[in-house]
Amino acid sequence: MKRRVRICGKKWLNTEIFTLRIRLPGISPKPGQFFQVRVAETLDPFLNRPISIASYEKDTLLLVIKVVGRGTALLSRKTVDDEVTLIGPFGTGVQPKKKNSLLIAGGIGVAPMYFLAQRLYKRKTPFTFVYGAKTAAGLVLKEGIRKHATESVFVTEQGRNKTTAVDALRTLDAREYSVAYACGPRAMLRSLQKMDLGIPVYAFCEDFLGCGCGLCLGCAILYRGQYKRICEDGPVFELSGINFDA
Ligand SMILES: Cc1cc2nc3c(=O)[nH]c(=O)nc-3n(C[C@H](O)[C@H](O)[C@H](O)COP(=O)(O)OP(=O)(O)OC[C@H]3O[C@@H](n4cnc5c(N)ncnc54)[C@H](O)[C@@H]3O)c2cc1C
Ligand code: FES
Repeated sequence: MKRRVRICGKKWLNTEIFTLRIRLPGISPKPGQFFQVRVAETLDPFLNRPISIASYEKDTLLLVIKVVGRGTALLSRKTVDDEVTLIGPFGTGVQPKKKNSLLIAGGIGVAPMYFLAQRLYKRKTPFTFVYGAKTAAGLVLKEGIRKHATESVFVTEQGRNKTTAVDALRTLDAREYSVAYACGPRAMLRSLQKMDLGIPVYAFCEDFLGCGCGLCLGCAILYRGQYKRICEDGPVFELSGINFDA
């Protein structure tokens, strides 16, 4: 569904990451689903930018956006009361299981994990949230994560105790958990796959998209021997079934 909506809140979390709040009644989104956001009113940039749902509370949508290029820079110039076009929500998302869960976020991959954390908290499901970023300033939404998670682990790749989210998992006993969910850069998902936690891991794949609506096949991923579209069939896939080398 395509809607023209008004921004009702904007906040910079650090020099690169900002949030947008948008009132959007009438949707029932699941963690992992995303919107295609129109970044300009002109035909250039032509493609919409996929942005995950980071929270949906009281009919209000939260988007957490990192400025990486032209599209996200254009979006970052929007302010409260500006309008923006959203198409979606897209993707199948996940129905979180009521089992002790492990959430693993790397960088801006925190956005959909944050939504999942809120859903698990509401359903009184215990979970540990492991979150890594390059720098301490890159660790956003920490307060909300601490509030919702049964246990939280924050790590950075720089500084005194430098480590990654995947390496931080070595300090936990994965057998205490029944299921894991992960979102972050492809390199993080690859190392997680190699590590093999011994429990099902659902990976939220946030790679490049083209059309974002199932038509161009530009987002194909080899999953259990078949090509799947991240935008329509995903973006959540069981990690062990993904062939990252295809
Ligand atoms: C399903 C999905 C959900 C996403 N959710 C979020 C979200 O909640 N918040 C958020 O900030 N971003 C999210 N992203 C990533 C976001 O869509 C891209 O960062 C954005 O489209 C980049 O647009 P741009 O015009 O600013 O950058 P471009 O000019 O297109 O690219 C700038 C640089 O960023 C790199 N880049 C672009 N897209 C990606 C990507 N998807 N992964 C890794 N590198 C990339 C390019 O290679 C280039 O080096 C999501 C992506 C997907 C597929
Ligand atoms: S982005 Fe075009 S089919 Fe997925």
